[in-house]
Amino acid sequence: MMTERTYAPVAWKGITQPSKVCQKGCDMRNAGPPRLLCVDDEPNVLDGLKRILRHRYQVTCAKGGTSAIEVLRNNGPFAVMMADLLMPGMNGVALLEQARGLAPDTIRILLTGQADLPAAIDAVNQGNVFRFLTKPCSSGDLFQALDESIEQYRLVNAERVLQFTETMMASLDARDCYTAAHSNRVSFSAVVTAEAMGVSPAQVEIIRIGAKVHDIGKIGIPDAVLRKPGKLTEEELDVMRLHPQIGKRILERVDRFHDYLPIVELHHENYDGSGYPYGLKRDQVPREVRIVHVADVFDAVTSGRTYRPSLSEDQALKLLQVGSGRLFDPVVVEAFTEILRSRRVLNEILESEWNHTRA
Ligand SMILES: [Fe+2]
Ligand SMILES: [Fe+2]
Repeated sequence: MMTERTYAPVAWKGITQPSKVCQKGCDMRNAGPPRLLCVDDEPNVLDGLKRILRHRYQVTCAKGGTSAIEVLRNNGPFAVMMADLLMPGMNGVALLEQARGLAPDTIRILLTGQADLPAAIDAVNQGNVFRFLTKPCSSGDLFQALDESIEQYRLVNAERVLQFTETMMASLDARDCYTAAHSNRVSFSAVVTAEAMGVSPAQVEIIRIGAKVHDIGKIGIPDAVLRKPGKLTEEELDVMRLHPQIGKRILERVDRFHDYLPIVELHHENYDGSGYPYGLKRDQVPREVRIVHVADVFDAVTSGRTYRPSLSEDQALKLLQVGSGRLFDPVVVEAFTEILRSRRVLNEILESEWNHTRA
């Protein structure tokens, strides 16, 4: 059972409300199987659909068009909405047309009888429906149409997320060019580390985007602190340390960014609980965040700033080794170190090949 903890409110620029994170620090609202909205005027049909589909999807049922619009407004977002064509009051075509305006990203499927094929084809041609299924349809056809629709939903969302990420990073880059370049490097090395650790492709994608926006909260840090050429004072460090929570507040307003919130909010937590903002330790912090944490620190210390020189790769690796099990997840440090060593070996081979070719 998930328990919740609260952290003390910090009074600065709107960061005044206590925020809740689950014990593992992750927002679970969008977790789990894809969300599906089924609409029919027959309760028996809805019960049957729910029985078949509930093992693969989070199924919500609405009886009739008016109720479906209400659910869409108040309980979205849904990956897919599937509606019967023949319903009293609002028919399926009118409903899906209205749904397109309300939730344009939700993929729409129409269920229709043979006799109503022309209406279904019209709906597809007008762009109101992604697929139609003729009744009776086999469970195989049903699952295939749903899986294709969910894939389409993911593609559209991934594209939007990428565009939005680039826009946000460009606005941060305009104020602090270090952070955008740093975030791209962190994303790259965190992804390579995650792949070496056997993290699933879906989680790797979360790491890729999450690492790109991990410092987005710096948008809310005043120039006097963010762009200060010298070392920060303790008070200024306190302001800078708000960036994970500011980042979370910015992104939590956007549904499709919920998967990345743990990385944004918790990337400064240390393995032993000595980090911020909550002092979470070990697996209270999700693994993808622990991976980004190592890549983040490595990049930060190997990048020179005006107020401190950069460390060499060897010095930075030493720092990771010393902090392994204390500040950093030892499994992540091991994978990260191994990647750097392999890259070096590869570079040495390439260099000697190159010299050999030139000789
Ligand atoms: Fe950060
Ligand atoms: Fe960072």
